[in-house]
Amino acid sequence: MFSLILLFCTNAVYGGDLNIEISKRYLNLPVSQKVEQKQMSFSVNGCHDRTFVIRLSAEPEYWVFCDMSAYLGKTVHIDFDGDPAGLSKIYQDDRIAGADSLYRETNRPQLHFSSRRGWNNDPNGLIFYENEYHLFYQHNPYEREWGNMHWGHAVSKDLIHWEELPVALYPDKSGAVFSGSVVIDYDNTAGFNAGKTPAMVAIYTADSPERQVQCLAYSLDKGRTWTKYTNNPVIDSKEKWNSKDTRDPKVFRHTPSKNWVMVLNERDGHSIYNSSDLKSWTFESHVTGFWECPDLFELPVNGDPDNTRWVMYGASGTYMIGQFDGKKFTPESGKHYYTTGAIYAAQTFTDIPASDGRKIQIGWGRISSNNMPFNMMMLLPTELSLRTTKNGIRLFSNPVKEIDSLSENCHTWNNLTVDEANSCLESIEHSACLQIKTRIKLSHATSAGISLDGQHLLDYDVNFNLINRVFYSPEDPTSMELSVVMIIDKTSVEVFIDDGSYSYSMQRSPSKNSREGFVFWGNNPEIPFLEVCTMKSIWAQ
Ligand code: FRU
Repeated sequence: MFSLILLFCTNAVYGGDLNIEISKRYLNLPVSQKVEQKQMSFSVNGCHDRTFVIRLSAEPEYWVFCDMSAYLGKTVHIDFDGDPAGLSKIYQDDRIAGADSLYRETNRPQLHFSSRRGWNNDPNGLIFYENEYHLFYQHNPYEREWGNMHWGHAVSKDLIHWEELPVALYPDKSGAVFSGSVVIDYDNTAGFNAGKTPAMVAIYTADSPERQVQCLAYSLDKGRTWTKYTNNPVIDSKEKWNSKDTRDPKVFRHTPSKNWVMVLNERDGHSIYNSSDLKSWTFESHVTGFWECPDLFELPVNGDPDNTRWVMYGASGTYMIGQFDGKKFTPESGKHYYTTGAIYAAQTFTDIPASDGRKIQIGWGRISSNNMPFNMMMLLPTELSLRTTKNGIRLFSNPVKEIDSLSENCHTWNNLTVDEANSCLESIEHSACLQIKTRIKLSHATSAGISLDGQHLLDYDVNFNLINRVFYSPEDPTSMELSVVMIIDKTSVEVFIDDGSYSYSMQRSPSKNSREGFVFWGNNPEIPFLEVCTMKSIWAQ
């Protein structure tokens, strides 16, 4: 009896609805991590539009938003199955709640892309088209934690300054929109083109509790609005693999075979599929030993276009080098690593013009933005290259040259002792965003490095051959000198060693009691070169 009353009471308190005639661009929604996720649905004229989970609260910790431009003049019916108290706080405005401090919040990355509100993980659909670099990304618009996967969207003219656009892909009855890629169908192979406008086609994974299937959507307006393909899914391989884990299609045009190639992670590795029209796919081969977020790309070795190799790449950043004939990847060496730390699920850009010729990659930066209405970020775009080393052919990664356009007030010094270098660093503001380029020469085969407020940004131990606990042996194994490029943002640090032969990224976490700022440390290292530049914010001030 008691539980019946309780059930009755619970039902009486929970659930509510609301009609809003849309007259402004945004609906601002109050949320708090302290309350449970409950389901919210929008419908317009009786037609279901979207469903998601949200921690709606009448005592908001922060606000999230929905872009309602598509519904101006219409009445949206909102159904909510949680505590209805928060419903009355929802309001419309032409600005998002908190717009006044947008991009100037305490823990907002100033050199890296992060979404205005909510969570982001993997970069998706990186492509250059009509003078814009497109960055789609795994996005939860309604909360600063993972969930409700949508494709967020941002564009840039220079890979550095980003403009966030409305959400590109929404979850539907097939599930959440997991990672994938984008191509431009110049030859209209899928038949989605309109007149002379080629379709931008997204190939993504729809994730439901039962299965993960591969789907298409296309856009005829440079990624601003999208239509899902009516005959989705185009691949459903759960039964073949006896596994739900079939996801993250990366598609590219393979010019020699005039075919589309898809690399898809299936259970225990990356599969290759072929298609002539993006709709019908044939399984060709499989390489075991990879998990999630495949990439496969060709690069010249030492810049020689007549000597190329293919790189088969996994979510963690480990890779194999080999040959690829359009159907099968044949490994020649691997696995190797070139980067570690916060990076995950990196992807390379498609359709970078031949006149540019770079292979440009962006990785998800697993860097938390503590207590902010947004969380996580993208790492800096880097240029990948293959070079011959003492160990064989290896991947190198360096920040794209465009990053240098952010630097100002640079100071350069040569041939410093450790004390001299430390006095050069003394006046630097601890919270500044900086690019530091330096060379450090050790005097003993022990460890030396650079720290910031007690956190070891660089810790090179020549005895154990470790940089920040990861094995590193320079090209000349007798060398006592490292070259270092460090890019320091509000919440993150990215470090590139010896012209990109190894790099790493990490959360910036000063020790609580240290205000010692930047210091070189170790047994009398020499500093043959030091350059310190402050970095301008990528966000308009
Ligand atoms: C990698 C990943 C992908 C998946 C996506 C979901 O971080 O797990 O495999 O598509 O995130 O957000």
